[in-house]
Amino acid sequence: MRIAVCPGSFDPITLGHLDIIRRAAKIFDEVIVLVSINPAKNNCSFTTEERIHLIEKTIAGMDHVRVDSTDGLLADYLREKGACAIVKGLRAVSDFEYEFQMSLANKHLNPEAETIFFTAAAENMYLSSSIVKQIASFGGDISEFVPACILDEIKSRLLRK
Ligand code: PNS
Repeated sequence: MRIAVCPGSFDPITLGHLDIIRRAAKIFDEVIVLVSINPAKNNCSFTTEERIHLIEKTIAGMDHVRVDSTDGLLADYLREKGACAIVKGLRAVSDFEYEFQMSLANKHLNPEAETIFFTAAAENMYLSSSIVKQIASFGGDISEFVPACILDEIKSRLLRK
């Protein structure tokens, strides 16, 4: 049983995340989408419960994919679940240095776990949760960036009052 973890802030989940999750699900027996704490992002727009809810709606009907959250170290979570891989998407070169550092830290903390990078699809190269939030807060069109089933929820939640 090969379990992979797709960790992230998911504030909120985007089509870029969904693409990586779908691709991971083709390779692994089970994929856990893990809402985790990024100490560098301390002003999340959505609560952990809201982010989990949006992910649940997004992955509904996807076989062997589920969502969970942790407020601890990713390396410990993998050990606890017997997961063998951390799957992340790489967009541009600018992602690389930080992701490389994280993968080395996680390898040190849990030598059993491998970090695997999927290159982002061309159409998602510039897509991020921050971009989505900024466009939505000004009432712009985010329908190309987030799953259709959660579009209205994200729009109404983020529109500036
Ligand atoms: O979507 P993000 O914000 O780029 O995801 C980063 C995240 C949440 C995966 C990363 O910050 C993380 O793994 N947080 C949990 C704490 C941890 O294990 N940190 C890495 C060891 S230094």
